[in-house]
Order: sequence, then C-alpha cells, then structure tokens
Amino acid sequence: MRPTLSLNWAEIRYYLHMPNTVIKTAVFPVAGRGTRFLPVTKASPKEMLPIVDKPLIQYAVDEALSAGAETLVFITGSSKRAIEDHFDSDPELEAVLQAQGKQELLDALHGILPSWASCVYIRQPAPLGLGHAVLCARPVVGNAPFMVHLADDLIDAQVSCLKQMTEVHARYGGSVLGVQNVPKSDTDKYGIVSLEREVAPRVGRISHIVEKPKPDKAASTLAVVGRYLLSGSIFEDLAKIGKGAGGEIQLTDGIARLMQREAVYAFEFEGKRYDCGSKLGYLQATVEYALKHPSLGSHFGKYLKEIAATL
Ligand code: UTP
Repeated sequence: MRPTLSLNWAEIRYYLHMPNTVIKTAVFPVAGRGTRFLPVTKASPKEMLPIVDKPLIQYAVDEALSAGAETLVFITGSSKRAIEDHFDSDPELEAVLQAQGKQELLDALHGILPSWASCVYIRQPAPLGLGHAVLCARPVVGNAPFMVHLADDLIDAQVSCLKQMTEVHARYGGSVLGVQNVPKSDTDKYGIVSLEREVAPRVGRISHIVEKPKPDKAASTLAVVGRYLLSGSIFEDLAKIGKGAGGEIQLTDGIARLMQREAVYAFEFEGKRYDCGSKLGYLQATVEYALKHPSLGSHFGKYLKEIAATL
C-alpha cells in the first residue's frame, strides 16, 4: 500500500508559503593567521588545536552536518594543509589499525566524515579579512543560502547552534546571525547589533550592525559570534565593499549592506560558547570538555579536585 500524507488547510498554507529553507552548504573560513596562538600556529592551523581528542575543525564540521550540511567548503590559506589531511582518508593507517585489530580507533577514523558529505577547498590568496574569505566561497555556493561557521567559536549545546538557527530560518526566512550578550567592555572585539523589533523570544530583526565599536559608542551588547546563515545575495555586497575596521574586508560590512534589501535576524542561541581563539577560552573549553568526556571525565575531575586543594 502506498504511504499517504494528510494535511489540514492551515498546514497546506504553511508549506506553500514556506521559504526555501534547506541549506546544504557550509563554509568554514580557516585562512586566518591565528597570531594569538603563536608560535604554535606558525606551521599548524589554529583550527587543528585539539579539545581533548578532536580538533576544533572537527567539532565545526559535526555541527554543520547536524544542521543538514552536505557540502563543506573550507577557505584555506598557507600552513593549513593539515585540515585537508584530517578529512581525507588514510588507507595506510587504516590497514595498520586493521592488522592490529584496533577496531575502536578504526571507527574513530571512519567517524570523521560521513560518506555522503563532500569537501571543497578554496585558497584565500591572502588573509584580507573574514568578508573576503566568505566571498571566496561564491563559485561553489552560487545564490543559495549557506552556513558560515567559525571553528574557534566552540558552542556546547543540546541542540547544535546551527541546527537551532536553521529552525529560525525555516520559520522566518532571511539571514540569521547567532548572537550573545557580552560585557560592555568587550564590544570592540565583535560585530554589535541593534534590534528594530523582537519577532519572537530570542529572535529579533536587526536594524544596525557595526564592527568592533568602542564600548562608549556601542548601541548594545548583543555580539555576533561565529555562526551565520546567510542569503546568497550577500556576495553582491561583499564584492562591493572595501576595507573596514582593522584594514580588513569585514563580513559585518557586507551584512550591513544586505540588510538594506533583505531581513536579517539576530538569534540568541541556547548553549555555552567558548572563545577558543583566545588562550583562556581555549583552556576553559579543554577543561570542561575533559570533565564531560565519557572515559576521562571522572579521573580528570578527581585530579582537578586534588590540585585545586593545593592552590
Ligand atoms: P580571527 O579574527 O580570529 O583571526 O578570524 P585569526 O587570524 O584567525 O586569529 P588572530 O586574531 O590572528 O589570533 C576569525 C575567523 O575568520 C577566519 C579565521 O581563520 C577565523 O576562523 N579568517 C579571518 C579567514 O579565513 N580569512 C581572513 O582573512 C581572516
């Protein structure tokens, strides 16, 4: 018997007017120099820094896959080859593990990337800024909406941050930026948004966005962190803008232009964010993920208690 689908009129109207919600492409800008982590980032990518036993970029890819991404576009630069090697298969290593009967490790290798996901690598000729890095993805993304994920913003959440954002996009369309409140003294580290109006709890339509305003000039403390669902038409804007804050081509400036034509929403996601682009945030993430690790957590917790008692 054929399966049947029954919908009432309200549901039919909803689906007929539903915006194009399916986002299949995720862009990972990984071409930055990572100067805050020098000298470790001189020859190896910041995005390959491990949080316990997985590199940051693996957490990023897992999150995008959980939100429905199938094509993974990495914007790379010099000293980033390790990222390509990480997501490539390694038949020699697999053969060795197979011969040694190390099935658990083999499974860990196979779990890095599902067979249905494909990786594309595009070289950013020079680190001219995040906006320029995203523009480099245009030949692959075309006009479709796409995700942007900055791997050094690690977000621990029950439902992944990008998945939460795709649900907002499915409901309201437009572009969606992941935001969180930051201390007033930190506004000059982020793109800061002001809201025109709240459209739902945690979701607001943005009226202004400014890159790294000084605390006394910032209109709010709502900061954009490294998660974006963007309309493909932003490429028109990114192609037109020049250098902005810090002499870089800023994604924020492209979004400010996009907002003049299309709705852009800020979404206060649920979850805990770690700024792994800073040493302190990286260490905090390492400790908290280690405490949650299934086989390490209890030993590590005991060790922490011991050393805390000596401080
Ligand atoms: P950051 O502002 O963290 O810069 O970039 P960075 O170079 O990685 O690190 P620091 O500040 O020197 O320590 C945010 C994200 O944008 C990417 C980075 O790789 C990072 O994921 N990015 C930045 C690019 O891909 N290209 C650029 O030109 C700039």
